[in-house]
Amino acid sequence: MKILIFDTSEMATSRAAQQIIDRVAAHPDCVLGLATGGTMPPVYRHLTNAHLAGSVDFASVTTFNLDEYVGLTPDHPCSYHHFMAQELFDATDFDRSQTHIPMGNAPDPEAEAKRYDAKIQAAGAIDLQLLGIGTNGHIGFNEPTSSFGSRTRIKTLTKATRSANQRYFSDGEEPPRYAITVGIQTILESRDIVLLATGESKAPAVATMIEGALSASCPATALQLHPATTIILDQDAASQLKLREYYFQVHPNGQETPIV
Ligand code: GLP
Repeated sequence: MKILIFDTSEMATSRAAQQIIDRVAAHPDCVLGLATGGTMPPVYRHLTNAHLAGSVDFASVTTFNLDEYVGLTPDHPCSYHHFMAQELFDATDFDRSQTHIPMGNAPDPEAEAKRYDAKIQAAGAIDLQLLGIGTNGHIGFNEPTSSFGSRTRIKTLTKATRSANQRYFSDGEEPPRYAITVGIQTILESRDIVLLATGESKAPAVATMIEGALSASCPATALQLHPATTIILDQDAASQLKLREYYFQVHPNGQETPIV
């Protein structure tokens, strides 16, 4: 794991976005894995601004989002289809026939999950997967107890996750109980992974992910098995890391200076 700690969430966010921009600039037809959640809109603003400034084009990129709520139609304001259109796709030049998100309202969600995983594999796996992390250590919607061998499937959301996401739903409406999520094995097959976490609320999950023992209780610990994962943090999210000074010594201020 490469662990980069930045002074501010803005610097961390910018570094995560830059990794995506660099990847697309080098490989315009790459396959990106995209994420949702409150951490991501600032990342997508960087991508949008870079596109509007003429620095990057997304027209040949293929994308696969991590997850979608079971039961929500794509036009539901809390669906991840809607989130992605609003936060990224509508303001950029992504070819919408190449942007994929599980269909939460599919008549057979289990079959939809299998179809989706097969589609990722047919695309040759993800080149660069962007991840956030839940306060309980989930990645995508892989809640605690998710197998490290899991593929795209239905997961029951925990009370903690539903509560955390309640803020996106209007009064009286509760977040769905189930989601389709790309599995941990599918995520681990990505060539590169970049996980962005900001804010103090993520500090315990971040510490367990990086320094805890491998465990399905904290699904993000699976990333310890991946050979090319970059964890990008602000100081608050890094605040419970025991070896924080060591990570800072290796990459001062998040910088990746060549070893001479
Ligand atoms: C959501 C998403 C995850 C996201 C996480 C954290 O429920 N399914 O992909 O990483 O929870 O979200 P936030 O960035 O809002 O803290």
